[in-house]
Amino acid sequence: MNNPLAPKWLTPPLDANVLAPGVWPHTAHRNADGEIEIGGVAVSALAAEFGTPLYVFDEADVRGRARRIRESFAAACESVGTHGHVYYASKAFSSAGVLRWMVDAGLRVDVATEGELELALASGVPAASIGLHGNNKSDGEIDRAVTVGVGSLVIDSLDEVDRVADIAEHAGVVQNVRLRANTGVHASTHEYLATAREDQKFGVALRDVPALVAAIRSRSSLRFLGLHSHIGSQIFGISGFVEAAQRLLDVHAELLAGGDVPELNLGGGFGIAYTSVDSPTDAADLVAELVHEVARICGEKGIAIPVLAIEPGRSVVGPGGITLYTAGTIKPIDVVDDHGNAGTRTYVSVDGGMSDNMRTALYHADYSVALAGRVSETDPALVRVVGKHCESGDIVVRTDYLPGDVHRGDLLAVPATGAYCASLSNPYNQIARPAVVAVHGGAATLLVRRETVADLFSRDTQLESDNR
Ligand SMILES: Cc1ncc(COP(=O)(O)O)c(C=O)c1O
Repeated sequence: MNNPLAPKWLTPPLDANVLAPGVWPHTAHRNADGEIEIGGVAVSALAAEFGTPLYVFDEADVRGRARRIRESFAAACESVGTHGHVYYASKAFSSAGVLRWMVDAGLRVDVATEGELELALASGVPAASIGLHGNNKSDGEIDRAVTVGVGSLVIDSLDEVDRVADIAEHAGVVQNVRLRANTGVHASTHEYLATAREDQKFGVALRDVPALVAAIRSRSSLRFLGLHSHIGSQIFGISGFVEAAQRLLDVHAELLAGGDVPELNLGGGFGIAYTSVDSPTDAADLVAELVHEVARICGEKGIAIPVLAIEPGRSVVGPGGITLYTAGTIKPIDVVDDHGNAGTRTYVSVDGGMSDNMRTALYHADYSVALAGRVSETDPALVRVVGKHCESGDIVVRTDYLPGDVHRGDLLAVPATGAYCASLSNPYNQIARPAVVAVHGGAATLLVRRETVADLFSRDTQLESDNR
C-alpha cells in the first residue's frame, strides 16, 4: 500500500528487488545469489576488498557513453557539413583513469581551475585538447594555461580580455579564445543549476557581446573562436538548448560582419535518470537533434554552419556510477507531515552521507536505493537514507522503498552517483573520503584510494608528525 508520506510520483514497487530500468549502469544485475553484480563483480566482493562507502564505476558503461555521444555528435555534424568536438566536463568527476577513458573515446577535456588543469595534464590529456573555463580565473591559472598551450580559453568577463591578451603577448603566443555569453534562457532545473539566467555570475549579457568581441579582435595575441553558452545542468528537453542556440546565432551572425567566427560551443547540461520516473532523452540522441536544429537556424539566416562543440559531464559519467554503503542504525519514525498525512518513515543510516553525496542537501536532488547484497520477500517500507554527519539535512536518498527487513550490516547501493558526488565530496566531520573503483570483465581496479585519517590531518601544522 502507498505510504501517505510518499510523494505522488513514488509508488510502492511490486517487487523491491527489481533494479529500475534506465537508472542503473548497463552491466548491473542481480546474480544467482540475489546480489547486485556490476562489471561482473559482486558488491559483497567489492565491499570486502575496498570497504564502504565506495564509489563504483561500470567502466564499459562510461566508456560506451563517451564514445556514443562523440560518434553521434560527429555523425550529425558531418551530415550537415561541419565538424564537432566533444569536451568532457571534468568537474563531473575527474581522476587520471577516467580522463584517459575520455581521451581513448576521442573526447577533449574541459577544466575550470588550476587543479583540474593540472590533473588533466598529469593524466596525459594533450594541452591542445583542453578548454579552460572559470568566472574568476587567477593570473596564475591564465598564465599556466597559455604557457602549456591549452586549445581554448573561455573568456568570462570584460577584464579578462586584456588580462588574457597581456599574458599571451608576454608568452609570445596567440591564444584561441571563446566568449561565454549569457543567453538569458531559463532552463527548467534547480535554481543553482541554471546558469544562463540574467541574475547570476557566469558570462556576459548578449547585448554586451559585440563590444567584447571587438575588444578581443583588437588584440593580436588573441584569436576569436566564437561564442560559448552553458544554460544549466540536468535539463531533460531540447527546447532550452534550441532557444539558446537561436539567441547565440543571432549574435553570431552579427559578428560575422567584423571577421571570422569559426566555432560555436553549446555547453553541457544533458539530464540523466536518478529515479524510475525520470525519462530523459538519451544525450547522444539529444545532441544529434540539436545539431540539426542549429543547421536549420543557420539555413534560415543564410550563414555557414560553424564548427560545433558541446561539453557534457553528467550524461557521460553519471549513469555508470553507483555508491555502495553499509546500513547501520535503523529507526522507524511515526510522522505527521505538513499536509496532515500520517505514516511511518524508516530512517536507514549509512556509513557516509553528505560528505560523499552533497547533491541531496544542495539541490534537493532525488535518488533511489536498493538492497544490494541480497534479495528479500518482505513487504517494502518507505525509507529515508541518511548519513552519519551532524546535520538533520544529511540525507542521501530522500524517499524510496526498501524491503521492510532491511537491517544493520546490509549493503545498500545508490545508483546514478557517477557525476558530482565524488567531485563534490568533502571531509566534513573529519570523515575520510571513499575510494573509487572501476569494474570491468569480472575485475576491479582501484582508481582513487580511500582517504585515511592521516590524510585528513596531514595539513595541520600544529600536530606532531607522530600524532598524525
Ligand atoms: C561551463 C560548463 N560546461 C559544461 C558543464 C557540464 O554540465 P553537465 O555535467 O550537466 O553536462 C558545466 C557544469 O556545470 C559547466 O559549468
